[in-house]
Amino acid sequence: MRKDYLTLALAKGRLGKSLMKEIEENGKLQSIDLDSRKLIFFDDKNKIRYMVVKPIDVITYVEKGVADLGVVGRDNLLEAQGDLYELLDLGFGKCKFSIAGVKGQKLYQKDSILKIATKYPNVAMKYFQSKQQKIDIIKLNGSVELAPLVGLADVIVDIVETGHTIKANGLEILEDMFDISAKLIANRVSYRFKQSEINKLCDLLEGRNEDD
Ligand code: PRP
Repeated sequence: MRKDYLTLALAKGRLGKSLMKEIEENGKLQSIDLDSRKLIFFDDKNKIRYMVVKPIDVITYVEKGVADLGVVGRDNLLEAQGDLYELLDLGFGKCKFSIAGVKGQKLYQKDSILKIATKYPNVAMKYFQSKQQKIDIIKLNGSVELAPLVGLADVIVDIVETGHTIKANGLEILEDMFDISAKLIANRVSYRFKQSEINKLCDLLEGRNEDD
C-alpha cells in the first residue's frame, strides 16, 4: 500500500502544469502526465503519491489529512483561511488579485453600495471592510469578467495573470490588491510526524539533494 509515501495534492490546470515544468527542469523528482485522465500517480524513487484535484479542493485534502502536502495558489489560501502550515513559496504561478471594471467606475463612495462579482467572496469582503466601503457580493464560479458588462455587478475581484481576459472584455484594472504565487502547504499533524521526510521533499522541490 506504499504506506511510507508522502501524499501531495496537486491542483490541475495552470498551477499543476507549472509545477511539472519546474520538476522537469530541476530533474530531482519524477514528473507526471497531467493530460491523462488518471488522478493518482506514484514517484516510487522518491516515495511520493500525487493526487490530482481541483485547485480549490487542495486545501480540503490537506486540512483533512488525506494529503500530507499540497501545492496551491495564494488566492485559494486567502479565500479558504485553512488551518495548515505554509512551508514554501514555490516562486511560480505569479499573478495578482485586482479589482476591475469599466473605465471610470468609482470604487469608494460613502453613501452607495458597490456590487462585486467574484469567485473569492471572503477576500473581497475583507478587503473592502478594511477600506470601509459598503459592498454587495455576487458569488460566481467563472467567467467573472462578464458581470460588469451585463449589469450584474459594478466591478469584479479576480486574479489577473497576463491581463488578456480583462482586455479582451473591454475592462480595466481599477486597483491592484495583492500579489499571488504558488505555495507548498502541509497538514499540521503530518508535519509534526513526518518532518524529516517533508523537509527532504522541500529540498528536492527547491532543486537540492544530499549529494549537492
Ligand atoms: C482566471 C481568472 C481570470 C483569468 C485571468 O480564470 O479568473 O478570468 O484566469 O488570466 P489572464 O489575466 O491571464 O487572462 P480561469 O482561466 O481559471 O477560468 P474561469 O473564468 O473559468 O474561472
